[in-house]
Amino acid sequence: MKNSKRILSTVIGAVFALSATQAFAATTLKLSHNQNRDHAVHKAMTQFADDVKTKTNGDVRIRIYPDAQLGNQRESMELMQNGALDIVKSNAAELEAFSPAYSVFNLPYLFRDKPHYEKIIYGDIGQEILDSSKDSGFVGLTYYDAGARSFYAKKPIRTPDDLKGLKIRVQPSPTAISMVKALGGNPTPLAYGELYTALQQGVVDAAENNIPSYTLSRHSEVTKFFSLDEHTMVPDVLVMSTKSLDKLTPEQQEIVKQAAKDSAQTMAKLWEASEKEERAKVEKQGVEFITVDKVTFQDAVKPMYDDIAKSNPELSKMADRIRDVK
Ligand code: GCU
Repeated sequence: MKNSKRILSTVIGAVFALSATQAFAATTLKLSHNQNRDHAVHKAMTQFADDVKTKTNGDVRIRIYPDAQLGNQRESMELMQNGALDIVKSNAAELEAFSPAYSVFNLPYLFRDKPHYEKIIYGDIGQEILDSSKDSGFVGLTYYDAGARSFYAKKPIRTPDDLKGLKIRVQPSPTAISMVKALGGNPTPLAYGELYTALQQGVVDAAENNIPSYTLSRHSEVTKFFSLDEHTMVPDVLVMSTKSLDKLTPEQQEIVKQAAKDSAQTMAKLWEASEKEERAKVEKQGVEFITVDKVTFQDAVKPMYDDIAKSNPELSKMADRIRDVK
């Protein structure tokens, strides 16, 4: 009897000790983003989370909260800075308010083509920008391709003249605001989640985004003309709080960083397929894709570059460095 009691208490003790070490060892990181589960970026981040869990033997888990459940991009960034969130996927446009180095991605027609853009985001300059925010309490883990952004409206936009007088939703980014002004439109910064209703109710007349975000957010139901002017290529960025990163062991930190980079490669493939599929889907629903003469748009934004050279030499220098990459 005494013996079996001893065995029982040893077993109970062991169970407690085990769960205590597990509770101590397992870290759950919260990741917030504003797209729905059908968006390629959600799938890429799911791979990231699975990969981190497997490679850390379950010691580090990432819980993804999609659909802006934990706040829009700006709110999520603030929550991360206050320690309530660990990881945020934000578009580089909104990061401009948190780390000025990201502004460069909002400059129109900066990249010559997709290979040029890829050379930057997956190369040294891209890494430099990801590292630029350390003093603000977060670092970029990786970029996720988010294609090119174009205007969409209830009427066809063929030249900048067609934007005159239109209220155009932009992301809350000073550079995006300047771009729309240079093109003759009235920029209206709004959070992504508010845009469907704003378009439907006529609070804004137009917006701009990549094709999958336009279709998966169902903006294509209320704006039937998508102009392929491709004014910017603004990547999404996975950023992590330096405090949360520092809580992990050096080995776990490496796993998180590598898994993020690996998921970006998956994203690149998913993205290409998604752009094609989503376009074909909404074309069947009556959306018209309009080819435009990009030169008219490029000419209209030229004065913006002259202004930046005077008002923001650092941004101007970065734009030059990017142009110099062949
Ligand atoms: C893209 C991007 C989002 C962003 C959105 C927007 O879809 O992936 O992160 O919020 O643009 O225009 O707000």
